[in-house]
Amino acid sequence: MITRNFFLFLSQNNFVKKRAMKWGPKLGAKQVIAGETIQEAMETVEKLNKQGLVCTVDHLGEFVYSREEAIESADHCIRALDAIAETGVNCNLSLKLTSLGLDVDRNLCRDNMLRILETAKKHNNFVRIDMEDYSHLEETLDILQELRQSFDNVGTVIQSYLFRAEEDVRNLKGINLRLVKGAYKESPEVAYQKQEDVDRNYLNIIKVHLLNGSYTAIASHDHRIIEEVKTFTKENGISKDQFEFQMLYGFRTELQKQIADEGFTMRIYVPFGEDWYGYFMRRLAERPQNVRFALQGLFSK
Ligand code: FDA
Repeated sequence: MITRNFFLFLSQNNFVKKRAMKWGPKLGAKQVIAGETIQEAMETVEKLNKQGLVCTVDHLGEFVYSREEAIESADHCIRALDAIAETGVNCNLSLKLTSLGLDVDRNLCRDNMLRILETAKKHNNFVRIDMEDYSHLEETLDILQELRQSFDNVGTVIQSYLFRAEEDVRNLKGINLRLVKGAYKESPEVAYQKQEDVDRNYLNIIKVHLLNGSYTAIASHDHRIIEEVKTFTKENGISKDQFEFQMLYGFRTELQKQIADEGFTMRIYVPFGEDWYGYFMRRLAERPQNVRFALQGLFSK
């Protein structure tokens, strides 16, 4: 727990960030981040597609504090959607509302999303709004509902560590949801603190959404959860078209391939961009063993 808190603290620490950015690739970030440019991301996606894996790309960037940065970030998303269409890869887009200006001006953020969804619709593509820390949850769901009045090619993420997760999943019946355990540090007032409670609620919300007939993305590296989902869907006659598994780029690559080979949709979350720091630190926080990546990077050429 100390390690987790330490890396979560570092993920928000600008002093360390400035110094760490210089060491980026050397810190092992390159093994879990597909380069800094859209072109590099597309090359990675093409390689993954060839292995039978579909993708979602995420232009890294969060906690934007000016209108200009927010608009620029939305432009990046639009360029990524255009690049996906041009290259013809099997890939959709994930993004964070804070990177589109949620903390600057809610309506600016909503308008940025509208521009992005117009482009996605033009290309017949889908956009997923990642879920950030608890303080952004209400606004994220609120904006999602507003966007859904004009677009059906948008979904979001629900985190099972939150007590309210099941209620949210029920309210979002019919919407394509990614279900996760949750990556941020949340207070005991709103979130389960014990891993076993988070896992139990995770399986619970997965089953609720699947039984509701809604498209479900199960985003986890936990082989036990994955096996339970396979058994549950088989026993309940839930078609492989109604759900997919998701994992992060660079993690459990053998298992990713195995799941795809078994005929399930396996989507890889491929982050790219210069602003890799917060993402990388959260991955280290989740799993101290991931520090191995960092050390390998430091000692490799
Ligand atoms: P967890 O870390 O709970 O590990 C459970 C067990 O799985 C481990 O004990 C080990 O046995 C095995 N395991 C896990 N990782 C392994 C590895 N690398 N190698 C070998 N074994 C391993 N969070 C969020 O708050 N908002 C979001 O929008 C998203 N989005 C998102 C997208 C995608 C595609 C993924 C995969 C994850 C997210 N997350 C997220 C992160 C998520 O909430 C969660 O923090 C991490 O996925 C870690 O939880 P897991 O379920 O993967 O396994």
